[in-house]
Amino acid sequence: MFESLEIIVLAAGKGSRMHSHLPKVLHKIGGKTLLQHVLKEAETLNPKRIHVVYGFGGDAVREATPGDYHWVRQEELLGTGHAVMQALPGCDADSGVLILVSDIPLIRAETMKRLLDAVPEHGVGVLTSVVDNPEGLGRIIRASDGSITGIVEEKDCSATERQINEINTGVIAADVNTLNVLLKQVRNSNAQQEYYLTDIIGLAVKDKFGVAGFQAEDPMECGGINNKIQLACAERYYQKRLLEGYMAAGLIVADPARADIRGKLTFGQNTFLDVNVIIEGDVILGNDVVVGAGSVLKDCCIKDGSVISPYTIIEGSVIGEGATLGPFARFRPGCELMENVHVGNFVEVKKSKLGKGTKSGHLSYLGDSDIGENVNIGAGTITCNYDGANKWQTKIGNDVFVGSDTQLVAPVTVGDGVTIGAGTTVTKNIPDNNLVITRAPLRMIPGWKRPAKIKKK
Ligand code: UD1
Ligand code: CA
Repeated sequence: MFESLEIIVLAAGKGSRMHSHLPKVLHKIGGKTLLQHVLKEAETLNPKRIHVVYGFGGDAVREATPGDYHWVRQEELLGTGHAVMQALPGCDADSGVLILVSDIPLIRAETMKRLLDAVPEHGVGVLTSVVDNPEGLGRIIRASDGSITGIVEEKDCSATERQINEINTGVIAADVNTLNVLLKQVRNSNAQQEYYLTDIIGLAVKDKFGVAGFQAEDPMECGGINNKIQLACAERYYQKRLLEGYMAAGLIVADPARADIRGKLTFGQNTFLDVNVIIEGDVILGNDVVVGAGSVLKDCCIKDGSVISPYTIIEGSVIGEGATLGPFARFRPGCELMENVHVGNFVEVKKSKLGKGTKSGHLSYLGDSDIGENVNIGAGTITCNYDGANKWQTKIGNDVFVGSDTQLVAPVTVGDGVTIGAGTTVTKNIPDNNLVITRAPLRMIPGWKRPAKIKKK
């Protein structure tokens, strides 16, 4: 391991095989860009500096990547060797350098460390991997004594070399001086007319620098992403690794192959995720929480004992203990539910506070409202919060009974203990303990004959 470490991340490539206007490094796994994955892991090695070589997509890559990095622009994409050359002048002369590629996003710091440990003094270390299908990758050439003598890119391979299934992951380490000496000798006389970083291995052997390989234990960890199929495979691998970690810590997951974490999940004991749950951003689940099939939770906190029935969507909200929500309920940002609230199917709640024990079982819209304790909201209730220009508040006290099909035209305040008859349109503030009702009188016309359909001749 080097005494002082700098890391160069290559991220300038276009990624032609992605067939996308989005630079390859900005594609996402688990809600984070490929580049962010590499950088986050690289940071755990505490390097002196991280240099990011960018090019295709220009500033879009920088803008999508917050953090303290040394950005190096590669104006012309002349190959991986050329890319490293752009960043080397920014490295201290006495540093060791770890070169990472942004299209191997799931490499672990542990593997990086083991490669760094393997680098010979004044030599080069290369991370290799044995794969079932080496198509498109640089092959590791070894002498009969097992020592590495070079890397040959697939396009430059002979028929025999193409059979080799030990490949270059793209991750290489050496000290600054060694890299400078070797990279200066790299030429672009190859099938792609690029300056290949991989050529430094053969050059190191020729110049009697040491070369060491470290073989990655898990080929999936070092699987490159060059197309959308590999992107999806990497996503599943990432999810499996993450969910196995969560399960080892006690989370109950119905099927780790059918859950997606696109952010960070914190959870208590005996909490359960059913199939096809999606977690986005920062989600906190307490003890004994049940998250039903197909639910989507984003940046929210769900406290102990709450049961979320299938296909419920919760975003930017805090759900108190013992809630029963859904199926098919939707919470938009800014909701705060106290203990034992029930919100049932086809209810949309936005920026609203629901007091302890309050229930809204079916088909309602509650927006910009502050609702007290033990309130019963009948089916079809709507807070009319928008007048076409501005949003207004609805305030409902404790122990209110809201009959079905009520409209509350905001701004409006309903006092404690009020009873609202079914079908009422509330347009005035209602003092405590009143019955309020707006209802057209019921008429009956006996023996009414419905019109009959006129027969066509
Ligand atoms: C590269 C390796 C190959 C290895 C494979 C592993 C070379 C010549 N080949 O091939 O041996 O098996 O990775 O996935 O190194 N990049 C730049 N500037 C450039 C060109 C590339 O920054 O001018 C960056 C890309 O953004 C990418 C990385 O370098 O992150 C690798 O480039 P890519 O074109 O994907 O190389 P491969 O053909 O996959
Ligand atoms: Ca690649």
